[in-house]
Amino acid sequence: MRLQNKRLFFFTLVAAYLSYTFFVYTSGTETAFKMSAAAQEGKKVFQDNNCIACHQLYGLGGYMGPDLTNVISSRGELYVRSFIENGTAKMPDFELNKPEVDALVAYLGYVDSSANFPNRSVELTWYGTVNNSTAE
Ligand code: HEC
Repeated sequence: MRLQNKRLFFFTLVAAYLSYTFFVYTSGTETAFKMSAAAQEGKKVFQDNNCIACHQLYGLGGYMGPDLTNVISSRGELYVRSFIENGTAKMPDFELNKPEVDALVAYLGYVDSSANFPNRSVELTWYGTVNNSTAE
């Protein structure tokens, strides 16, 4: 490749990089899903007790227990409460008090309303991200 072509190629890449960076940093991160105070409290309880060591949210986390993204809508709140309050042979009982369990349920409800996992029906944009207007 001639030096002039190399330069042209290089500056085209730099220009593409700069315009994409500008687009990403100015398009904002607004989301329709606002976390309530109770859900924020629940997120803290979830983190303090390291639930993610065994469970996944949005498919990420440990793999000893099931994914909890849609556990509220698929299993129901009572089922979830009973797991958290009592534990099972494989899942420890964390001896959480009622406000902590309420907060956890609020947090899992928030997570549930924010996504479907696994989500096989999303439309990808041409630049590689999920089109939010069609995401469920
Ligand atoms: C040591 C690993 C471990 C930790 C830590 C853990 N879990 Fe679990 N959890 C499990 C396992 C394993 C199951 C499946 C239980 C069974 O079938 O006996 C489960 C099941 C559940 C279920 C029922 C899910 C379903 O679809 O049936 C919920 C809800 C749940 N866990 C919530 C939590 C929460 C909230 C925390 C944090 C406070 C937590 N777990 C921490 C291992 C864990």
